[in-house]
Amino acid sequence: MSDYDLIVIGGGEAGISAALRATALGAKVLIVNREPELGGGCVQTGTLPSKTLENAARFLENLKQGKRYGIPVVENARADYKPILESRHKTTLCEIGVLATVMRKNAIATLVGAASFKDPRRLEVRLPDGEARLYDAPRTVIATGSRPVALPHLPFDGRTILSPDELTAMDAVPARFLIIGAGVIGCEMAFIFRSLGSEVTVVEKADRALLGQDHEVGALITREFKKRAIRLVLSAGVERVEPAAGAPPGGAVRAVLTNGEALEADRVMVGVGRRPNTEELNLAAAGITPGPRGEIQVDDRMRTSVPGIYAAGDVLARFMLSSMAVVEARIAAENAMGLETTMDYSSAPWGIYTDPEVGSVGVTEEWAKAGGRDLVIGRCGYNDLVRSCLDANITGFFKLIFDGPTHRLIGAHVAGQDASEIVHFAALAVKLGARAEDLKDMVYNHPTVSEGFGKAAVDALKQFEKGKPE
Ligand code: NAI
Repeated sequence: MSDYDLIVIGGGEAGISAALRATALGAKVLIVNREPELGGGCVQTGTLPSKTLENAARFLENLKQGKRYGIPVVENARADYKPILESRHKTTLCEIGVLATVMRKNAIATLVGAASFKDPRRLEVRLPDGEARLYDAPRTVIATGSRPVALPHLPFDGRTILSPDELTAMDAVPARFLIIGAGVIGCEMAFIFRSLGSEVTVVEKADRALLGQDHEVGALITREFKKRAIRLVLSAGVERVEPAAGAPPGGAVRAVLTNGEALEADRVMVGVGRRPNTEELNLAAAGITPGPRGEIQVDDRMRTSVPGIYAAGDVLARFMLSSMAVVEARIAAENAMGLETTMDYSSAPWGIYTDPEVGSVGVTEEWAKAGGRDLVIGRCGYNDLVRSCLDANITGFFKLIFDGPTHRLIGAHVAGQDASEIVHFAALAVKLGARAEDLKDMVYNHPTVSEGFGKAAVDALKQFEKGKPE
């Protein structure tokens, strides 16, 4: 007999979402979380903290616009980093408080400890004082998240060589900042710290930035790096890092790149991906074999190979986005509670908080062409939009990908002002199977950046009329 209908391992965004959904469906739920505070990476080290820094950086950039309206602007204004850091911590504390209240209101039990399987139906929880407790677990949702990957020759030291998780707690803006990896985190942090005053160099192993995104998005971000004097070194890694001449421990370092170049930096961030946290779960006892990256494999109902055990969020090593994690966890909880719902990623949007932002959904051009699909691509530049001209913010583009035979929207890639917000409109259009004609005939508020969708649809329709799929 178990005290709980469902035990969730991990109290991050995914775990909380699973617990809330299962509770709403009538389950008695326990969340086991290693840390005393709930919220996980999203609240404590990643998404929310980085967005607080991004807000400060954006505010600084917007201040520069004051000149246009005769508002005196201090050239090269620099922010005092201390209040920014305080604001970052306040945001996290506030959200942790909100989550604790939500747990209380929903009568969801929480336990601080590290859970591991004894067998598919029993969990051992090791409490902080060393006591081990056994729990019957008729249903389990694994939501243990992920952690940053370190480079073997460059371990994180918490002082100079930092993981993205440590970065948002860094006590000062580094004068010279070296970022390894031009992925999502590397690119976001490059813009933020450049705005806050760092000289930034980004070193990327591949031959382009934002590898997984549409190639034109990567190209735009590369151009914006140049405009902002962010140096991007492609097709290179960091061979070794050593203390700079005369630097104290934890001080400046000299990095030697694989292309032979050497440069000095005050801080180095290694942003080369994340890996799932599964090592301590004793998955073998549950009968689960993780994938090659340690990830838990699930079907579209978030079921593992073992009945009664589900997984969601970063531990799946799929998208590692809190937005996806929340929905995956809801699906996991629903299936655990006897419903039959499935996860659909085809219309799930991405938001990347670079400057300008990126919002994307559905297929990329390369991906669709590799699959042999007939496509028509409709485009509109932000410089074609009255709103963007008004805002003096004309950098960016809309790229809409339509299926040739049906005219349906199957992908949208927007880089520019408010892209992470307006992409939801495209996501719904993809989900509902909207056609280029639908997007053209919509009435758009004027002036708005969303008008770009209509203009890009008109552009696509011109090509449809000419009968020229790409
Ligand atoms: P990532 O997988 O997005 O990018 C890692 C980059 O590092 C790749 O471009 C890779 O080629 C490069 N790299 C790998 N080894 C290297 C080496 N030795 N030297 C130089 N470059 C190297 O991983 P990232 O940026 O760490 O993000 C982790 C996860 O978190 C991703 O899944 C990302 O999507 C997610 N995330 C998403 C956010 C968002 O959507 N706004 C924000 C933050 C994270």
